[in-house]
Amino acid sequence: MQLPKFLENNPLVERLPTEVRTKVEAWMDNVNTVLTIENMGVLKSMGPSAMRGLFLQKGRHKTAEMRSNHSAHFNFSYPSDNGAMKALYEKAKRLQWNGSVDLDWSTPVDPFNPNVPLIGEGFVDWNLLSGFGIRFNEREQLDFLWRITTWMLSQFLHGEQGALMASAQVTEATPIFDGKYYGATQVMDEARHVEVFSRYLDSKLEHRYDINDNLFTIIDGLMTDSRWDMKFLGMQILVEGLALGAFGTLYKMTSEPLLKELLRLVIQDEARHVHFGLLALKPLYNGGLSEKERIEREDWAFEIVLLMRNRFLAHELYEEGFAHRMSRKEWNFFMDEMPGMSMFRRVMFKRLVPNLRAIGLLTPRILHRYEKVGLGDFIHLPATSEISDHDLSAA
Ligand SMILES: [Fe+2]
Ligand SMILES: [Fe+2]
Repeated sequence: MQLPKFLENNPLVERLPTEVRTKVEAWMDNVNTVLTIENMGVLKSMGPSAMRGLFLQKGRHKTAEMRSNHSAHFNFSYPSDNGAMKALYEKAKRLQWNGSVDLDWSTPVDPFNPNVPLIGEGFVDWNLLSGFGIRFNEREQLDFLWRITTWMLSQFLHGEQGALMASAQVTEATPIFDGKYYGATQVMDEARHVEVFSRYLDSKLEHRYDINDNLFTIIDGLMTDSRWDMKFLGMQILVEGLALGAFGTLYKMTSEPLLKELLRLVIQDEARHVHFGLLALKPLYNGGLSEKERIEREDWAFEIVLLMRNRFLAHELYEEGFAHRMSRKEWNFFMDEMPGMSMFRRVMFKRLVPNLRAIGLLTPRILHRYEKVGLGDFIHLPATSEISDHDLSAA
């Protein structure tokens, strides 16, 4: 369902002062997003999170409380109940690294040095931007590339904080005892990721953006859901898939050696996290739930994928420096067509969609919806557990 036409391209809206127009357009955009959810169960579970994230913009406050509602599952017989997770736990213990020792923080980083670009100028289609009447000189282009890299890394950082909290919840809530051992290593991994992204932003790029409202909504949704498998599905499969795609793209595009090494180390850890999600969810979604429950997961995953496909358009950058120069619709087009963002989306879905197939959430019932939004090509690619660490970094 879409908003009534009179609200779209309305000349009255276009004539509003920039600050008011930006708010009205964002509100309309958000209402449309919520109205497209078809499954009532999904709407019921995501509605309160969308209210907090999209409309109340709770992520823009300095702190947020998310009330979780799951049970901590204890088992006093300490079973060895999942050999694959045990093996993953052993691997995780072996591959721990220390961000303050294994990364060379003395590396000088100058975002305005064209010889060591954070991301290549090919990330952005400058001609398209000039088509909207915005022409940047070399210094302004470097400034824009610094801002967009900082925006992406800020979202990685906020996503990592979500992963830190969610992995702690998953460790409590999973009934699989070997999953608790493994989950504890993931908590440590995510703390390290928060540490290194935060340190890189603070000490090297000296800027940070608020959490994107859509990312906040997704994190709020899985943190407050009482069902343990939804936390796995949301964090280990969807958000981690997003992270693998984003990290892989940036790894490939950056020439800055400290950031490249930081991303290489993080990618190795993230691949284990996705693998953990696959191990936990595959048996559950293949006979462990009622059909109604499984369908709700299928629809929920599709809605989150759509949110990721359509909504990570850096509106924080738009509001910061472009709202007075172009409409939100033009900005969305510019971001959608941006070569770097297209690559990011391609790698993200290459990582994410096959994993949904591997856990059994791409049945014929939902396949056509993925095909309809242009994601059909990714369905039969290998799942993360079938890809080597080296290939994951190769994007
Ligand atoms: Fe992480
Ligand atoms: Fe992770």
